[in-house]
Amino acid sequence: MSTHLSQLAQLAAEISKSAKQLDEYLTTNNLPQPSFEIDAPVNYDYIVDPEARQAQLSLANAGRKLFLLMQSPTESFKFNVMTTIHTMGALQALGQFNVTEKVPFDKAISYDELASKTGLGLDMLTRCVRMASTSCIFQEKTPGYVSHTAMSKLLATEESTQAFITIAATEALPSIAKIAEALKSSPEGQVAPFDLAFGMPFFEHKKKNPAKSAVFAKVMAGTKKQNRGQEVVDVFDWDRFTGLLVDVGGSVGHLDAALAKQNPQLNFLTEDLPQLKEQAESYIQADGLSSQISFIAHDFFTPQPEQAKGANVYLLSHVIHDWPDQKCEEILRHVVKSMAPDSSLILVEALLPEPGQLDDYSEAIIRAHDMGMFNYLKAKQRSAKDLEKLMKLVDERLKIVKIVGPPTTRMNSVVEFAFRS
Ligand SMILES: C[S@@+](CC[C@H](N)C(=O)[O-])C[C@H]1O[C@@H](n2cnc3c(N)ncnc32)[C@H](O)[C@@H]1O
Repeated sequence: MSTHLSQLAQLAAEISKSAKQLDEYLTTNNLPQPSFEIDAPVNYDYIVDPEARQAQLSLANAGRKLFLLMQSPTESFKFNVMTTIHTMGALQALGQFNVTEKVPFDKAISYDELASKTGLGLDMLTRCVRMASTSCIFQEKTPGYVSHTAMSKLLATEESTQAFITIAATEALPSIAKIAEALKSSPEGQVAPFDLAFGMPFFEHKKKNPAKSAVFAKVMAGTKKQNRGQEVVDVFDWDRFTGLLVDVGGSVGHLDAALAKQNPQLNFLTEDLPQLKEQAESYIQADGLSSQISFIAHDFFTPQPEQAKGANVYLLSHVIHDWPDQKCEEILRHVVKSMAPDSSLILVEALLPEPGQLDDYSEAIIRAHDMGMFNYLKAKQRSAKDLEKLMKLVDERLKIVKIVGPPTTRMNSVVEFAFRS
């Protein structure tokens, strides 16, 4: 008998091994089991042991691969494309009629009652809920009665998740449908699909539509809560630095606040657009950090202000992914001009991995962000090599001196540049 395992058997073995390992860790440490039920955890941040985290990731990756393998190429296209599009459609319809909020948390509700409470016709309500239920968003344990799962409850209670679905359905989908047209007019990607779908650039559209802008702000607030702050603090040795850190495009100073708490040897100057000044100052004050963090209104397409010159560290966190290369050069040139010979320039970004560096599941998340940046802003995520190339155009002497990237972190890689002759 051949000892060579088929791909099917390999994936199944990996799943079995990792599931056993993760289950033992959760049981031994008395931690909640993943589940679709309403009271299940909505994220797995409590899995802190690196081996258990690795087992969780292996399960997600091998599980997804096995799922794709078992569909067959023909079915895979149909299943994945159709279910994604129509689940998005169902969620958009249910969102419009506030269906998610009308499902009680403590019991099931009949479709009839839900239809009369929401105003969505019985037939369409049933069809949309049943479509969503196939992705574990709602469930129908008793025929004719809908109850929450962990996912539908998250949608009902977490406004940034709700906002994310709204933006995905009403802006990302119609925009990405224009990708071929955008690339036909500019094969180098100088036209954003969003501009064709909405007739104007992303931020202008938000300025003209305050309601859309408010929804987008909720998505951003959720992204910050989930992705930023503590991970950036934890993955990098910030305690090497003293003196002044200038956070270019630092929003309301949320990252500086997280850094300040663990680095009393640093002072911070948060720079962002003037409309954020009031919010930033009250945020910094509420955190009791006014003596360590100051906010200054500054447009990063103009020279750095006097207070920011010769700082020890310049930080640009998730800033340059918003811009095409030429614009990034402009932003970076202004920063570099104000650096001292021993200043450090630190970029925090979701670094694109090199081929084979990450599992497919993790890479898919970063690649989706990259395509999203193009879709909305004709911008991009970059690899460490891309950043190196970009920086070389700004100043040949700037070299990468340290990287903390994938797989240590997926969304918050830290790349440090310094002058080296
Ligand atoms: C994706 S957010 C990143 C915020 C923060 N650094 C972080 O990591 O969460 C990009 C930031 O760039 C700011 N920004 C956009 N255009 C700017 C400009 N011309 N000058 C200064 N800041 C700008 C935005 O207001 C926003 O806070």
